[in-house]
Amino acid sequence: MSEHIRVLITEEDVNRRISEVAEEINRDYGNTPVHLICILKGGAMFMCELAKRLTMPVSFDFMSVSSYGGGTVSSGVVRIMKDLDEPLEGKHVLIVEDIIDTGRTLSYLIEVLAGRGPADIRLCTLLDKPERRVKKMVKVDYTCFTIPDEFVVGYGLDYDQRYRNYPYIGVVEFDEPQEE
Ligand code: IMP
Ligand code: MG
Repeated sequence: MSEHIRVLITEEDVNRRISEVAEEINRDYGNTPVHLICILKGGAMFMCELAKRLTMPVSFDFMSVSSYGGGTVSSGVVRIMKDLDEPLEGKHVLIVEDIIDTGRTLSYLIEVLAGRGPADIRLCTLLDKPERRVKKMVKVDYTCFTIPDEFVVGYGLDYDQRYRNYPYIGVVEFDEPQEE
C-alpha cells in the first residue's frame, strides 16, 4: 500500500509559530535557567528550533519512551526506552514533545519526572490533538498548533519511521482503503 503526504502546516507557518511560542517562554521564564527535556525521537526537530530562539540559560536532556507500535494506533503501553542522563533536583523542567494525542505518554512521564524533585515542570508541544485525549489531567503550557484528529508526519513526526525530516507538517493519505 502506498501513501502520500498532504501539506497541513507549511514550513514558514511552523517556523513563525515556533518563534511566537519561544517569545512567550522567554517572557515567562525571564533569566531563569530552563532544562529542556526532549522526548525522542519526534521532539528532536522541534526542540532544536525552539532552543535556538530561547534567551535564558538552557540545558538539554533526552528521553525515549514507547507508546505506539509501528502503525497509527495507540497500544496504551508506555515504557522508558532511554532515561535521562542528568538528575532533575531543583531544575526548571520544560518537556518538549512533538504531539499530544491520547495524553497517555505525557501523564505517565510527568508523574515519573515529578518524583525526581524538579523545581517545576512545564509542558511544551508542537501539536495538540485534543479530540483524542483520554487523560484529562495533562495540562499543556505551550502549544504551537491545535490540529484535528488526523495522522500527521513531518517536523520530527513519523509514520513507520519515515517522513521525520520533512520541514513541514502533513497528513498521511492512503492511496487505497486501509484494511481494519
Ligand atoms: P499519546 O500518548 O497518545 O499522547 O501519544 C503521543 C505520541 O504518539 C507522540 O509523542 C507521537 O510519537 C505519537 N503520535 C500520536 N499522534 C501522532 C500522529 O498523528 N503522527 C505521528 N505520531 C503520532
Ligand atoms: Mg513523541
